[in-house]
Amino acid sequence: MTRFGLPLLASILLLSLTANVQADESSASRGEYLLKLSGCASCHTREGGQPLAGGLKMETPFGTFYTPNITPDPKTGIGNWSDDDFIRALTEGVAPDGSHYYPAFPYTSYSRMSRQDLRDLKAYLNEVPAVQVAAPDHDLKFPFNLRVLLGPWKWVNFEPDRLQTVPQKSAAWNRGRYIVQGPGHCVECHTPRNRLGGLEREQALMGNPQGPDGEVVPPIVPTKKPFSEWGREDIVFALQTGMKPDGDFLGGTMGHVIENSTGALTESDLKAIAEYLLDPREPL
Ligand code: HEC
Ligand code: HEC
Repeated sequence: MTRFGLPLLASILLLSLTANVQADESSASRGEYLLKLSGCASCHTREGGQPLAGGLKMETPFGTFYTPNITPDPKTGIGNWSDDDFIRALTEGVAPDGSHYYPAFPYTSYSRMSRQDLRDLKAYLNEVPAVQVAAPDHDLKFPFNLRVLLGPWKWVNFEPDRLQTVPQKSAAWNRGRYIVQGPGHCVECHTPRNRLGGLEREQALMGNPQGPDGEVVPPIVPTKKPFSEWGREDIVFALQTGMKPDGDFLGGTMGHVIENSTGALTESDLKAIAEYLLDPREPL
């Protein structure tokens, strides 16, 4: 090796190392934004609890769920999960041990997220502080406590699906559709459900008389009142601040959505959501 060989080799190594670190950093920082876009903290952080350590109690007609810990703790969280385990959970609703997840975990929407977005989200989750705390077991009514029944449920009610760009529509509209149907999972609350808890997709975004916590969830399609009276600026402003055009404030579970998600989104993403909500005409 020449006099310069070693230092040269070292600096090449160093350069490629920093290039790698930079790539990882930007993946994790994109992931931090994606965590907001997809509102994971609304369910996986309980009031007074550590961020993303789970334990939030969710009352549903089928019984009570407690959300799991999704911090990188290897025992009680998802620290031992590979990227593929994570992608499978979010897009197929299947756990690393092969069992099925309940749709109280909205993988029915997250299945529409791009694989790159999911990898970035996982890169960020790898970096959040690990918290060692196990969530309580769910307390579900018979027969809903039987996880094996979720196989047939999914067969009827769930089709993993990825969104294709609609070339006739603008980039903003396509981005808005991706957010609303995918990470933003707006469809999950704003759409009525059948008796088995499956989404009535033909009535997507038309409102749900029996939403989470028994709330009435209003329609967010341009053909139904009162939303038909909202303009683009009204939508952006309400998602940013929680204030409706009539001066009232949005509350309940939508309050959590604004606090954990839409309140922290970029102006261009909020405009994209508005663009799509004002023109959602295509089947889901
Ligand atoms: C509406 C509430 C809700 C939202 C929003 C939500 N989850 Fe969950 N999640 C749950 C529930 C409930 C479960 C437990 C499902 C089960 O036991 O079958 C769960 C399970 C999980 C699991 C499996 C954990 C394990 O130990 O098996 C992962 C991973 C997960 N969620 C990640 C996420 C991520 C990442 C996001 C955001 C992209 C997210 N969740 C958003 C409610 C939610
Ligand atoms: C966890 C359930 C839930 C999710 C997820 C959710 N919403 Fe809502 N949304 C509600 C509820 C409940 C209300 C009614 C709140 C109130 O009136 O105080 C509401 C109200 C609204 C309103 C006001 C409509 C009106 O006529 O007053 C808009 C706009 C809205 N949501 C947009 C969205 C968008 C966009 C998303 C996805 C980024 C979304 N919501 C996700 C539950 C949800």
